[in-house]
Amino acid sequence: MELYGVMHTTFAAREFTSDPVPDATLFRILEHARFAPSGGNRQGWHVIVVRDRQTREALVACTEPAAKRYIAQVQAGESPWNSIDPTRVDAATVERTPVPARLTEPLLHAPVVLVVCVDLKVVASIDQHLSRVGVISGASIYPFVWYILLAARHEGYGGTITTLAVAQEPQLQALLGIPKHVAIGAVIPFGKPVKQLTRLTRKAVPEFARLERWDGAPLTQ
Ligand SMILES: Cc1cc2nc3c(=O)[nH]c(=O)nc-3n(C[C@H](O)[C@H](O)[C@H](O)COP(=O)(O)O)c2cc1C
Repeated sequence: MELYGVMHTTFAAREFTSDPVPDATLFRILEHARFAPSGGNRQGWHVIVVRDRQTREALVACTEPAAKRYIAQVQAGESPWNSIDPTRVDAATVERTPVPARLTEPLLHAPVVLVVCVDLKVVASIDQHLSRVGVISGASIYPFVWYILLAARHEGYGGTITTLAVAQEPQLQALLGIPKHVAIGAVIPFGKPVKQLTRLTRKAVPEFARLERWDGAPLTQ
């Protein structure tokens, strides 16, 4: 596919055909994704290819607690899991909130699940001393993650970046034998999408790009 076509149609695929994803296909996709940038070109990424049913069930169990809170906050009109505005949703409400199947089923039914990790020993986390949640470390793993999904789209495959399970990172590390200094960036159900979306909903450029300053004039054509 042509690059802009791939960029405009790489969506969050959650339903997959039963076509298997052979290791050779994953290898080819990673062979292209490995050209992603990372801070200092340190390439701290690691990929764990999961097909085992018990491991998938454990991934679902790790996903559920964060998913409950996510959904409860959405239902309360909040922006879920944001680190700025404290939640007004109480623990009991979170606990009794059901988790929609779309947040867990792909982990069980996708032909394969990719767990993408990053070795924090090689990441320059430049914002680590600021009094806000860190974002810079992610920039050394998410270009790679997105290259995987762009290459997948190019080849007729797809997946979704999911992060809910990472709220239980210590359990994930124990489950998969990941060392403590290695963070989990994404858990990606992956396969051949049942349906290929072609129209994604995104903001228009003038809504998010400004000239010179935060409150500058919108960038237009
Ligand atoms: C950082 C990040 C975390 C995400 N976490 C989840 C998740 O835990 N579960 C899920 O189903 N989708 C998750 N998504 C997928 C987004 O919901 C999806 O990309 C967004 O709704 C746009 O979907 P579209 O590309 O199909 O329009 C995540 C996406 C990103 C970029």
